[in-house]
Amino acid sequence: MPESDDLAVFRRAVNLAAGESEQKWEDSRRLLEAAVFPSIVEQLVQRLQAAPLALQVKAALADMLGQGQARRVQDLNGAALKMLTGCPPSKAFRSLCLYFGLVQGRASKWPAANLRSEEVVRVLQGLANPFDLLLTAPVTTVLDLGAGDLSFAGELVDRYLPTLFAHQQELVLHAVDRLDPRSKLGGPLHPGRDRIAQLQSRPGLAFRFYGNRDMFDLHELDEAGHLAARYTLATCWAPATPTFAYEPTRLSDAVIQEDLRRSKGEFRQVRYEGESALEVQHGERALIFPSWKFDIRGPVALLNLMARRGLVGVLGAVDSQVFWEILAHLLEDARYRPQNQPFNPENLPIVFGDIYQRLTQLKLGETISLAQLGVLRFCLPANELTRTDQSAVGFREVWIRRGAVFPGVPASSTARQFLHMREESPPWCLTLVPEDRQP
Ligand SMILES: C[S@@+](CC[C@H](N)C(=O)[O-])C[C@H]1O[C@@H](n2cnc3c(N)ncnc32)[C@H](O)[C@@H]1O
Repeated sequence: MPESDDLAVFRRAVNLAAGESEQKWEDSRRLLEAAVFPSIVEQLVQRLQAAPLALQVKAALADMLGQGQARRVQDLNGAALKMLTGCPPSKAFRSLCLYFGLVQGRASKWPAANLRSEEVVRVLQGLANPFDLLLTAPVTTVLDLGAGDLSFAGELVDRYLPTLFAHQQELVLHAVDRLDPRSKLGGPLHPGRDRIAQLQSRPGLAFRFYGNRDMFDLHELDEAGHLAARYTLATCWAPATPTFAYEPTRLSDAVIQEDLRRSKGEFRQVRYEGESALEVQHGERALIFPSWKFDIRGPVALLNLMARRGLVGVLGAVDSQVFWEILAHLLEDARYRPQNQPFNPENLPIVFGDIYQRLTQLKLGETISLAQLGVLRFCLPANELTRTDQSAVGFREVWIRRGAVFPGVPASSTARQFLHMREESPPWCLTLVPEDRQP
């Protein structure tokens, strides 16, 4: 029988999962032991039921696993295992366990935040600012993605730590940024050593900064138990552009590259003082950035990540280009996602129609629930960047607020800079509450 594309895609994904971590691969050996094997098969059967896989692949897996009664790997159909993974039985079984997330890394020492989304929405409705959730939630943990100079981290701590400390509640704050602290590129986005040291020494605060870390590649930190599985709040201030300004599932690579060249100028990879860098020709000047500056990840990956990592996601100081691309993926109707048409000031009012009018009429500081403007997307497309966890995500509630900085709400230095940028249109702040996850 000719091999279907679905099967080939699945097999590649399984092999990718198997090769992701040497530690996990070693750990997967013990799943073959007689004492645990039957319960692992049962868990695979359960995971398979909820997995969004192609029907043919699902059927082949279900057939191979049977009723979950196998006692040893030899009881499973070796030919089916080979067809599904390309591997001999033991290796195939271990690979499938990794694919379905049955191999845990070291247990995290940080508590996982866990509240029903309905409850989160109810509490947030009564709060002037989403970060005030830290004053009532049983777990008080924050993950700051693309944290830059840690200015937001500093403001958050100053605003909430005294109260939490007075109530003997520890604040856990983890910050991640892709900039390598040793790099000469990145300028003011590098956090000062003093700021890191200060945050690390505050009583009542468990602060960690992870530099040189891509937010879409956190598995090493997870395996080492450095991160919480889920945070009370996951936040991203001034999400990087162009990283999140173009969505690869909507725009082809050729369209993105052309738009980048048109709007930013010619660019190329170069060496700069011993490190890889991106050189962008801006008029007469050659600007130098980290080599990955123009890696395009898109809002779907960011939204997926935030939904999986936070009970609440807050995207602050989102510039116009990133905002409209995000919005296109939060709404159910596909007409907001025209294929291969980069958004621009001319087509935005046409694509978003009334929604565009309502949002651009919002006054600074005003908030609106997106559900009042259109039907929220039921579930975001799965994204290979967040592939290891298979369940689909969507949002129960999305609030949009106009402006960079709001009274009493901690903000980042980039958000504060918007106040001085007269030509830049005011940015946006989104508070997102993910739906409860399917088991
Ligand atoms: C516009 S700056 C904003 C910095 C800070 N959040 C603020 O508001 O001042 C974007 C930040 O995202 C970081 N970044 C970009 N892509 C990233 C990725 N894939 N993973 C982690 N950080 C990333 C950049 O290094 C940069 O520090």
